[in-house]
Amino acid sequence: MNKNKNRKSSISSQDFSVTPPGDDVNEKILTAFDAQRRACEVLGSPLTRDVVGFCHDDFEAGGIIAKLVRGWQGDPLNDNVPLRLAGFAHHAALAGAAGLAQFYQSCGGAYDEKARTALEDALRHVFTEDEAGARKFLRSAPQTNETGRSASLLLGFSEISKRLSLPLRLREMGASAGLNLFFDKFHFALQTDTGAVHWGDADSPLTLEATWRGAAPALAGAIQVASRRGCDLFPVDITQADERRKLQCWVWGDMPARRARLLAALQIADRAPPQIDRADAAGWVAAQIIERPKGEATVLYHSIVWPYLSVAQRFAIESAFAQAAEAVTPDAPLVWLKMDGRELGTIAQLSYRIWTGENGPEGEEVIIGPCHPHGNDMEILAVL
Ligand SMILES: C[S@@+](CC[C@H](N)C(=O)[O-])C[C@H]1O[C@@H](n2cnc3c(N)ncnc32)[C@H](O)[C@@H]1O
Repeated sequence: MNKNKNRKSSISSQDFSVTPPGDDVNEKILTAFDAQRRACEVLGSPLTRDVVGFCHDDFEAGGIIAKLVRGWQGDPLNDNVPLRLAGFAHHAALAGAAGLAQFYQSCGGAYDEKARTALEDALRHVFTEDEAGARKFLRSAPQTNETGRSASLLLGFSEISKRLSLPLRLREMGASAGLNLFFDKFHFALQTDTGAVHWGDADSPLTLEATWRGAAPALAGAIQVASRRGCDLFPVDITQADERRKLQCWVWGDMPARRARLLAALQIADRAPPQIDRADAAGWVAAQIIERPKGEATVLYHSIVWPYLSVAQRFAIESAFAQAAEAVTPDAPLVWLKMDGRELGTIAQLSYRIWTGENGPEGEEVIIGPCHPHGNDMEILAVL
C-alpha cells in the first residue's frame, strides 16, 4: 500500500509561482508620491511638485509610470521612487528633451502652474519615448553632493588644523563627486551671535552662507591641504558629461541658487578633478589609515553617509579605526570627523575623534554641535 497516497504533497504548484506584488506596495507608491508632492510644495519647488503629481496621477490611471514602477521591488519611500522619476525627467530636460526643457529654469525655461497640462503631456512623451532609459535610470538612487555641508565641516577642519598644526590629508567616505574635498577653495559668509565671520578666498566662484549659533569662533587663518581623495559606492566622475548632468538633475529644476552653488563648485573641482575610488567605505577606510605619511594629519571624514551603512559596514569602519589607533604617533596623527546622524531625516551632529599619539588608543572625542543636514545652520557647543 502506498502510504503516501493520501498525504498532501509537500510541494504544490503554488510554491513555484512568483507571488504577484500585493496591493500593498502599490499603495505605498501612491503614499510616497503624495508625501513627496507635499514636501516639494513646502520646500518651494512647484515644478517638481507637479512632476511628482503627474507621476501620481499617471500611476493611478495605469499609464507609463505604472508600467515603470508598479510592483516596485523594495520600499518605494526609502528608495525615493518619486525623486528617481523626477530626476529622470530633469536629466532628460538637461539633455535637451524636446518639449520638456522649456519648463525648467535650469535649462533656460520657466514654469507656471497654468501650464501644468502641457508639462504633463511633455512628461508622458519623454517617459514613453525613452522607456528603456527610464528603467535604467530608476536603478540608481538619488545622488546629491551638497556643498552646503562644507559650511559645517569647515569648523571641524579648522579645529583639527589648529590642534595639530599639520597639513591635512583629506580622505572622504561616501564622497559622491568629491566636491566637499575642496572646502578650502570656497568662500564662507557666516552669521554668528557676535557678528559676521568671513573665511576663505573672497574671489572664489562659490560663497556659502550659513548661521552658526554661538559666539564667533576663532577660525584657523589658513588650512593647508596635503592631498584629497575619496571613495563612494557610486562615484560621480565630473570629467564625464553625462555624469555631470546626472549630478545636476537631482537639484530641482526651479532652484537656481542651489544649482548655481553646484556649478560653482564644479568649476573649482574642474581645476584638478579629485580621485574618487569606486569602493565600499567599509574596506577603503582601513587601507587609507593603516599607512599614514609622517608630517601630515590624516583626516577621515563623512557627511550624511552613516545612515546608509549597514551594521556590518559601520562595525568594519569602527574596527579599522580601533586597530589603527593602537599605533598612532605624534608625527602622523589620525582624526575621524563626522557630520552625520544615526538615521536619515534626523538632525546631524558635527564631531570628531582625534588620536594625537599622546592621548592613547581611545583618543579624545569632541562634539562641536548639532547641525542642519544641509549645513545651513549649526549650534556651537565646544570649540578651542
Ligand atoms: C547623501 S549622499 C552624501 C554625499 C556627500 N557626502 C555629501 O555630503 O554631499 C550619501 C553618499 O554615500 C554613498 N555611500 C552609501 N553607502 C556607501 C558605502 N558603503 N561606501 C561608500 N559610499 C557609500 C552614496 O553612494 C552617496 O554618494
